[in-house]
Amino acid sequence: MDLLEYQARGLFRDFGVPVLPGIVARTPEQAVSARTDLDAEVVVVKAQVRTGGRGKAGGVKLARGREEVAEVASAILGMDIKGHTVEEVMVCPAAEIAEEHYFSILLDRAAGGYLAMCSRQGGMDIETLAVEHPEALVRIPLDVTVGIDGAVGREIAARAGFPEADHEALAEVFVSLWRLFHDVDATLVEVNPLVRLTDGSLSALDGKVTLDGNADFRHDWASYHASSGETELEQQARALDLNYVHLSGSVGIIGNGAGLVMSTLDVVERAGRDLPGAPRPANFLDIGGGASSQVMANGLRIIMSDPQVRSVLVNVFGGITACNDVATGIVHALELLGDDARLPIVVRLDGNSVEVGRAILEEAAHPLIHVEDTMDRAAATAARLASGH
Ligand SMILES: Nc1ncnc2c1ncn2[C@@H]1O[C@H](COP(=O)(O)OP(=O)(O)O)[C@@H](O)[C@H]1O
Ligand SMILES: [Mg+2]
Repeated sequence: MDLLEYQARGLFRDFGVPVLPGIVARTPEQAVSARTDLDAEVVVVKAQVRTGGRGKAGGVKLARGREEVAEVASAILGMDIKGHTVEEVMVCPAAEIAEEHYFSILLDRAAGGYLAMCSRQGGMDIETLAVEHPEALVRIPLDVTVGIDGAVGREIAARAGFPEADHEALAEVFVSLWRLFHDVDATLVEVNPLVRLTDGSLSALDGKVTLDGNADFRHDWASYHASSGETELEQQARALDLNYVHLSGSVGIIGNGAGLVMSTLDVVERAGRDLPGAPRPANFLDIGGGASSQVMANGLRIIMSDPQVRSVLVNVFGGITACNDVATGIVHALELLGDDARLPIVVRLDGNSVEVGRAILEEAAHPLIHVEDTMDRAAATAARLASGH
C-alpha cells in the first residue's frame, strides 16, 4: 500500500527525520488558512496523489500571498495527474534549497534482501538518474541483521561522495529512515529530494512510503486504508482476508487462482458483449487453493451483498483442493447464507475429482445452482442470467 506524501512525512516526523511543517487542505479556502497557520510568506502547494513526477505535471507550485495561494490551490485541486484526481493538497513553507539529494531503502526481491540507494544528485526521478548518471547513484546491499547503524550510514554517505564533514548528519537521517522502514514493515522508503537547506540543515522535502500488505495484521492501518480509495465492499473483503477487487459490472465472479480468475473475467466480458445490457464482471475474487466452505461462504456473501450483481459465476479448477471439497463447500456455503443467498449461481468445476464434485451438486439440487461443464458455457449462462433472460 502506497502512502500519500503527507502520511509518509507524518511517519518521518515520528521517527525523527527532519521535515518542514505541512498542512493538508481540500479547498482553496483551507489552503489560504493553512498558509496563515504556517505563518509563511511564501509557500509550496503540493498535490497529494499516489504517483511521482507531480512537480513536472504542474502539481507542485510556489505561491506568494493569500490570493496566489487560493489561485494555485484551485488550479491543482481537481487536476488529473497520471490518472489520479487531486482531492487534497499539502501546503508547506517554501524551503531555501542549497542542494537536492536522493536516498531510498527498498526490498530488493531479486537479491532477496534490502538495498539502500543514495545520490548527491537528487530531485529528478530515479529512473532518469539511473540512466543518465549511473555512476552518481550508489547501491548498497544491507545486512538484514544490522540494517543501517551509524557506521553503515557514514559508509553510505562516503560512497555517495558527500564531503566528510556531512557524513555524521546524513548518517543520522539514514539511521532514522532505516528504523522507520523496519518498524512500520515498509517495502520502500524514498526521500527525493533530501535537501540541504541554505542554513546547512537537512530536510526530507518529499517522501514516499510503501507498506507491506502482508504485515497488515501487525499494525493499525485503518486510517491509511480509509484514505486509499477502497470501496466499502473491498474493505469488508479485506477484513475477511479475501483477494477482492470491485468492478463495475453485474456478473459476480469467484475462482481459485489469480490467473483463472483473470481469464474468467475475459470470458464473461466476451460472453456478455452481444447481450441486452452487455453484462460484465462485477468483481475479481480469488479464493485461492485449499479454500474452505467458510471462505466460499464469505466470498458469496460479499458478492451477493453487492447491489449491482445479478448472477454469480463460480469457476474452480480442482487441484490440491479436489472438486468434491469445492462442491461440498458451495452447498455448505448456501446453507450458511440461508436467505441471504438470493442470486443464481453458475458453477463450473473441472480437474481433480470432477465427477464426484458434480454428483454432489446434482444431489443437492439447490434451486439457485446451475452446473455447466465448460468455462465458456458457464460464462454464457452467467451473462445471460445477469442480462435477465
Ligand atoms: N517545500 C518546498 N520548498 C521549495 N521547493 C520545493 C518544496 N517541495 C518541493 N519542492 C521542489 O519541487 C520539486 C518536486 O517536488 P516533490 O515533492 O519532489 O514532488 P515530485 O517528486 O512528485 O515531483 C522538488 O524537487 C523541489 O525542487
Ligand atoms: Mg520528489
